[in-house]
Amino acid sequence: MGIKKIAVLVSGSGSNLQAIIDATTAKDGILRKRAKVVLVISNNPIAYALERADKAKIEHVVIDRRYYSDDKSYDDDMLKKLQSSEADIICLAGYMRIVGKNIVEAYPEKILNIHPALLPKYGGQGMYGHFVHEAVCAAKDTKSGATVHLVDENYDTGKIVLQKEVELSGTETPQEIAKKVLVVEHQIYPQAIKKIIDEIEEVEK
Ligand code: GRF
Repeated sequence: MGIKKIAVLVSGSGSNLQAIIDATTAKDGILRKRAKVVLVISNNPIAYALERADKAKIEHVVIDRRYYSDDKSYDDDMLKKLQSSEADIICLAGYMRIVGKNIVEAYPEKILNIHPALLPKYGGQGMYGHFVHEAVCAAKDTKSGATVHLVDENYDTGKIVLQKEVELSGTETPQEIAKKVLVVEHQIYPQAIKKIIDEIEEVEK
């Protein structure tokens, strides 16, 4: 019980990070008094997400793979930093790397990712960001959406926690699809975190 600590891993704009922060701080936020973002880690030193963390007075660090000789030393450092934050839950929010095996093993069923499509459709290696929306556009799909799922050692294959659809006409551009999907991403990420916290607390009872 008590307020759960969240660490968020980012690489870019951090609009999902912002949605999570807002859900924990806004008066009517669904994570208010349930969760707190205690750490933001970016592998990209110029990610706008770092400014968002700074503004919200959340500890933020850059752990840049380019300064490590191999994946193992990078992943080890990442794990050390996560453990020092005492995070209960780790959220990947536009984090553009696969999470190390050491981290997946240290946080079983406690790592979440958001994907801008209705998994298992349009998932897997190479299917991220604009590639997803381009594929949806090329297929002239009449729906897309967002998925929050648990993270395992593969790309986009972990158990689905929450999914929400958006309707499409089949004529939108990839950019228009991205915009529509992002709106539901910001809704379902905090909801999925709440669901995981409820499950954790059920076990703690
Ligand atoms: C989102 O579309 C998310 O689904 C994907 O990367 C994008 C990140 O956007 N994994 P932001 O950095 O949260 O604004």
